[in-house]
Amino acid sequence: MVKHQPLIGKTIGITGATAGIGLAAARVLATKGATILGVGRSAERAAQAAADILSTAPNAEVHFFTADFSALRQVRRLAEEIREYVTTRHGGKLDVLVNNAGTVTSRYIVTEDGYETVFAVNHLAPFLLTRQLLPLLQAAPAARILTVSSRSHRNMRILWGDVMLRWFYNPLLAYKQSKLANVLFTAEFNRRLAGTTRIRAYAIDPGLVNTEIGSKNNHGIVRWAWDLRRRQGADPSVPARTIAMVASRPKLDPPDGIYWRDCQSIAPSRYALRADEAEKLWSLSEQLCGLGDKFSE
Ligand SMILES: NC(=O)c1ccc[n+]([C@@H]2O[C@H](COP(=O)([O-])OP(=O)(O)OC[C@H]3O[C@@H](n4cnc5c(N)ncnc54)[C@H](OP(=O)(O)O)[C@@H]3O)[C@@H](O)[C@H]2O)c1
Repeated sequence: MVKHQPLIGKTIGITGATAGIGLAAARVLATKGATILGVGRSAERAAQAAADILSTAPNAEVHFFTADFSALRQVRRLAEEIREYVTTRHGGKLDVLVNNAGTVTSRYIVTEDGYETVFAVNHLAPFLLTRQLLPLLQAAPAARILTVSSRSHRNMRILWGDVMLRWFYNPLLAYKQSKLANVLFTAEFNRRLAGTTRIRAYAIDPGLVNTEIGSKNNHGIVRWAWDLRRRQGADPSVPARTIAMVASRPKLDPPDGIYWRDCQSIAPSRYALRADEAEKLWSLSEQLCGLGDKFSE
């Protein structure tokens, strides 16, 4: 039986496509006919993931890029490589960007840019990547940006006094703050660009999912707690369905839903919808990424 392939001709970038939710989403989207531009941080894992996706969708075009999101110069280089690839082969357009790569670290680790790693990988990297890929997204008829957030953004605020948690590092706080930043970014993107472009941004809440996210880069109680907790989690194919739906359904219901879980639009926290906080975070992110205010031009 020939599968229905509604995404033929669509080019979809997915970060963190070498494992867990990102890999599962890449499989589904490739099966629907999309060209997959996967991003991983290791060439070996990227090659394994490409083979995995092709075993599910043998006719798909799958190309992987590598970049470590803890280094902003690697994010810039990645954007340049994607731009070149997409310009040569896909008419210079990117239909969907799935900002999915994410991390949690039990230790306080400072990146080469001088930033706290979880904030850098989970928020600054997708912020910068989206910004650098904006011309490709604008070239698509109705591009979508999906950023994988988490229920853990609730009951959290941006810790303005110490965003990088230099004075007091707690892995859960760092993670929650970064996932809140994902929703603030999504809402602010739409405030700034929905009026002048056909691009729309959405945040995805995957629920609790059985992946290795809390087992990597971690030791002691963080790793132990995650190894226990993940057993209650859903298979990565569950949030992958939500990602595929939000990425591909021509008309979303409701059309203005920005936070999606289990294929339904639900409300994010009230704080995540605060325009003043989102604007402040946007300005700080631009400054930390060394960007001007081009998004709002
Ligand atoms: N699992 C859950 O219960 C859950 C719940 C809510 C939200 N989320 C979110 O879902 C997203 C995916 O997480 P997951 O659970 O699927 O975890 P995962 O299986 O560990 O996958 C994370 C992906 O991100 C990549 N990655 C990690 N650090 C990176 C870095 N420094 N540079 C570039 N890529 C990096 C990983 O690469 P490697 O393969 O090389 O490790 C992997 O491809 C994350 O944003 C996470 O916050 C997960």
